[in-house]
Amino acid sequence: RHLWLIVPAAGQGKRMGADRPKQYLELAGRPILARTLTRLHQAFPEARLCLCLDPDDDWFDAQWVPFADWRRTPGGAERVDSVAGALAAIAEEAGADDLVLVHDVARPCVTVDDLHRLRDAAREAAAGAILAAPVADTMKRDDGRGHIRATEPREGLWHALTPQGFGYALLCRALEAARARGVAITDEASAVEALGLAPRLVSGRRDNLKVTHPDDLSLAGWILAGQDA
Ligand code: C5P
Repeated sequence: RHLWLIVPAAGQGKRMGADRPKQYLELAGRPILARTLTRLHQAFPEARLCLCLDPDDDWFDAQWVPFADWRRTPGGAERVDSVAGALAAIAEEAGADDLVLVHDVARPCVTVDDLHRLRDAAREAAAGAILAAPVADTMKRDDGRGHIRATEPREGLWHALTPQGFGYALLCRALEAARARGVAITDEASAVEALGLAPRLVSGRRDNLKVTHPDDLSLAGWILAGQDA
């Protein structure tokens, strides 16, 4: 069984409000994309990488890719389209049982230990596995007008992180079905859940944050500095 890594990196990162897609912003002196790929390579030096990039992306530099075996695949309109594009690009090479880990380029702080634990769980669990962290805050639902409508019990609620890992054939089937239904999905697990399956939750570090808003950049810098210490 080969190990494949799919890194969707075709987003614009508009919430960042920067002059470039967020994966090219510098984090402790290196672009986020380079940091994320370096972490993945530390954990899985032998893996095969699919990097989903916007076909019009002029910021990318191949020198940031530490993997020997990698390909650039065209990103699509939504994240799910980018991941589906990567799965299609490796259809000739991938075996049905090969393990595929999908990891957001915007999560540079994931640790090698969490990566290994997720891989091990995803290998064993028939429906795959995701890194996740229990919700700590009290959760409110709004009424659409800026007031609270309800307090949602946080017990049993988790933040879905990445990577998320599944067998190649299962992930293809799940994403095809999700795209055919046309409902928006923001992670792979929700597509697998829609098939009636229950991926495993692997408790991961809460500092595996997704760089989304401007303040996240300095926070990610602190997290990385602490991890290197
Ligand atoms: O925007 P957001 O942070 O939710 O995007 C999650 C991940 O999906 C990012 O790594 C982003 O680059 C990627 N993405 C993509 N193709 C899109 C939209 C987002 O690869 N069309």
